[in-house]
Amino acid sequence: MAFRPVVGLGLCVVDHSYRIEGFDADAVRTRFIERRVSAGGMIGTAVCQAAALGCRTHVLSVVGDDAEGTIICKALRAAGVETRRLLRSARVPTTVAVVLVDRRSGERHFIVPDRRGIEAEAPALDLSVIGPMTVLLVDGHFPKQALAAVRRARELGATVIGDFHRPRPGVRRLLPYVDHAIVPMEFVHARGDADARETLHDLAARHGCRPVVTQGRRGGLFLDGRRVRRFRAHAVGRVVDTTGAGDAFHGAFAAGLAQGLAYDAALDLGAFAAARNCTALGGAGRLTTSAEMRREWRYSGSGRGSRGR
Ligand SMILES: Nc1ncnc2c1ncn2[C@@H]1O[C@H](COP(=O)(O)OP(=O)(O)OP(=O)(O)O)[C@@H](O)[C@H]1O
Ligand SMILES: [Mg+2]
Repeated sequence: MAFRPVVGLGLCVVDHSYRIEGFDADAVRTRFIERRVSAGGMIGTAVCQAAALGCRTHVLSVVGDDAEGTIICKALRAAGVETRRLLRSARVPTTVAVVLVDRRSGERHFIVPDRRGIEAEAPALDLSVIGPMTVLLVDGHFPKQALAAVRRARELGATVIGDFHRPRPGVRRLLPYVDHAIVPMEFVHARGDADARETLHDLAARHGCRPVVTQGRRGGLFLDGRRVRRFRAHAVGRVVDTTGAGDAFHGAFAAGLAQGLAYDAALDLGAFAAARNCTALGGAGRLTTSAEMRREWRYSGSGRGSRGR
């Protein structure tokens, strides 16, 4: 059976990642140990991960008609992502994110622009690539276009995965059309929920989706009926930079569903790719290829092989 296509609609940025000794807001000077400039962003990294795992992958996004936009286009093409629907706009500058990564913990601190005004200016995206077999990833960016995309996906019977950091109004409008809301603890805290369990139950009851909360190196929680279950993070030798762990997770989970894996197995593939991606500097520092998946990934849980929605 051919794999289902993966389509990602959302944020593509250039990351300037600096590995530093530690954060000190009062220090006049902070020395870095290592530096890397690379294409990233929630959707940019996720689609590269899905493509590396052998999926036909499209990106729907807008970047600037500038040098950083060129870096993103080249990186996506090199990863095998179809970029015909990645628009270049003279009015929308490409977003650059500065990422400070603590050498000891691999934890990160982001310096980013407010993109809301930028996204309001963005031209319409061509959604015709979304079909009944599509696995669609949205990240809450380009909210108007994302709403049209998830509505189209729902109408056609496609599968929608959402990656949201905050429950903004634009995100709340998307949620009724999302089959799999996979959110980090940042989302739980921003909602003011007591804990991840409350978020899981509320997302499922309110929106009818299958929710997951990711919890960094603790793995994460998901719902099995009304029961909350944990999936474990995969162990890695040395954590260098946790940036993009969630993005790789979403891309690999999407690829898992696209390849017909059962739900639990797709979650485990997500955790596997996410852990590997923590072992190098940069949001897409070390993505997992299909050869590496075949060689190193063993899922011992139940249900491998049946189709997950
Ligand atoms: N230190 C780690 N070691 C192993 N796996 C990790 C580690 N950190 C994260 N992961 C894996 O990545 C998943 C997502 O991590 P996290 O909850 O930090 O996402 P996130 O905050 O969305 O990350 P980002 O936005 O930078 O992509 C976790 O569920 C876990 O499986
Ligand atoms: Mg994330």
